Amino acid sequence: MTTGTIGLLERSAGCGELAESDADAGREVVLTGWVHRRRDLGGLIFVDLRDATGRVQVLFDPSESVEAHATAETLRAEYVVGLRGRVVRRESPNPRQPGGMIEVRAAELVVHNRAESVPFPIDEEAIVNEEARLTHRYVELRRPTLQRRLRLRHRLARASRAVLENKGFIEIETPMLTRSTPEGARDYLVPSRVHPGSFYALPQSPQLFKQLLMVAGFERYYQFARCFRDEDLRADRQPEFTQIDLELSFATAEQIYQVIEELVAAQFREIDVEIPRPFPRLTWADVTARYGTDRPDIRFGLELCDPGSTVHGTGFQVFDAALAENGIVRGIAVPGGGSASRRQFDEWTAVVRDVGARGLVWIKREGTAVQSSALKLLGEQRCREIASAIGAGENDAALIVAGDREVTARALSLLRCRVAADMNLIPPDRWSILWVEDFPLLQWDEAEKRWVACHHPFTAPRWDELDLLATDPGAVRAQAYDLVLNGVEIGGGSIRIHSRGIQERVFAALGIDGADAERKFGFLLRALDSGAPPHGGIALGFDRISAMLSRSDSIRDVIAFPKTTSASCLMTDSPSPIDDAQLRELRLAIQRPD
Ligand code: AMO
Repeated sequence: MTTGTIGLLERSAGCGELAESDADAGREVVLTGWVHRRRDLGGLIFVDLRDATGRVQVLFDPSESVEAHATAETLRAEYVVGLRGRVVRRESPNPRQPGGMIEVRAAELVVHNRAESVPFPIDEEAIVNEEARLTHRYVELRRPTLQRRLRLRHRLARASRAVLENKGFIEIETPMLTRSTPEGARDYLVPSRVHPGSFYALPQSPQLFKQLLMVAGFERYYQFARCFRDEDLRADRQPEFTQIDLELSFATAEQIYQVIEELVAAQFREIDVEIPRPFPRLTWADVTARYGTDRPDIRFGLELCDPGSTVHGTGFQVFDAALAENGIVRGIAVPGGGSASRRQFDEWTAVVRDVGARGLVWIKREGTAVQSSALKLLGEQRCREIASAIGAGENDAALIVAGDREVTARALSLLRCRVAADMNLIPPDRWSILWVEDFPLLQWDEAEKRWVACHHPFTAPRWDELDLLATDPGAVRAQAYDLVLNGVEIGGGSIRIHSRGIQERVFAALGIDGADAERKFGFLLRALDSGAPPHGGIALGFDRISAMLSRSDSIRDVIAFPKTTSASCLMTDSPSPIDDAQLRELRLAIQRPD
């Protein structure tokens, strides 16, 4: 490695900051960065130098400096260098490239570090498998798209903080080593050395601590809170993720909506989108009936329709069985679907089968002709009637699922998204955001044979429906709300229970008896009994928002060091076994898998 005098000089400009005016002024600069690319053109060497601000072309001409040119001959991709030179106009400019009108004529060059093992090119055109990318994430992060995404994430955080600061929220950190708060997932546990046999849980969210901060009188709290959940991973889930978590005292849901709408609008402004406010509000009952899900993508129609009497008494076993077994028959009309291919219908059938539906009945209308997967059983006339009842006119198609209520709703909610994508029904650059309100407080868990909380056990029931808790728990609605962006749940919250008596009644409805409640939540019950103000809050999924605003399908693209779908970090090779001494110290024994 060479060091020279410029190794000691401070950099005077960023590669991406130089402008034509610098060339006209003949500005002398000291630059540092990575060799992005080097081209040797018969005597002249061109290097694209990259730093955090962007790229600039550097020219090494022996007539400027024989020494610098000789050193430039040794450069390879990703070497780290410093150089001194003069900004000039390029002989062959490239107006389409940022900085493409100028270059730097180098007079001095120093190599700060070589890069002996670069596992894959930084250029994004090079397709590299995910394992290699995640194993060498520090190299992948040099790629411009990831750089842009993480920088956008930073700006979103800054914009969010500014709104919250402006509204009098203060940031308070809550513990990472804690007792588990039930949010529906498994906990990550940390063994205690000092208390052998006891474990901390990493927080699934700061839920109880933020409520206690309200009891403590802070009134407006926020935190960029790291949360940990051991659940099945998908593109929009990571085992550790970040929430913008807030809580307010003496606030109505209305006030909480206003804070969040302002905050989300500020985030959107970072990508130059003015999102219309107020955000639409739909009830849970309405969205589940119309879209089959509580987080609908409403950028397109394809609403679920009830074909009503047209599917009664058909003698078609699939419909008859569904209706006899308290199930449902629902369909969607696909505009222009009359010309969809047989293969297309097979693919759509596979979508609903994948989630447990027995099958898909399709009816397609091409002019006056009718075709259907159930033509023989239903007959042409009945098919036409059913299609019309679902809203499928000439040249459209109707897609129908029959069976168990939940399975049918889930199947159709997925199908409508798939159909929208396949038929190009999603307008590009459209953002659809909405609040979903009036969730049920509880839902019946068939496996556990008990009621469980739809959000979490600290969510307030509607005050006017409290008495139903004992008589008809499934009918009680919660003071809870979710925020949904393009079909993705980006936030959820509620007004909380602030009285011990009501909290105990909800615990009882959840089958948590007095002793159990005292053991697990005694600290909360005592706090509620010590002057707890009415309060409520919300948490936004910051990774999900960052991914969507940077137009990525996966939250991994906005997390610097994400985990794989099997929750491992390929770079550090974690989780990893620990040595016997550590196990002994923690008094733990490992049961080897059979
Ligand atoms: P909830 O469980 O709905 O609410 O979480 C809030 C938001 O966090 C995001 N999110 C996730 N993001 C990435 N990976 C995950 N595994 C993951 N799980 C959730 C979602 C979700 O909407 N304590 C309550 C909030 C409250 O009531 O104030 C809570 O955690 O975008």
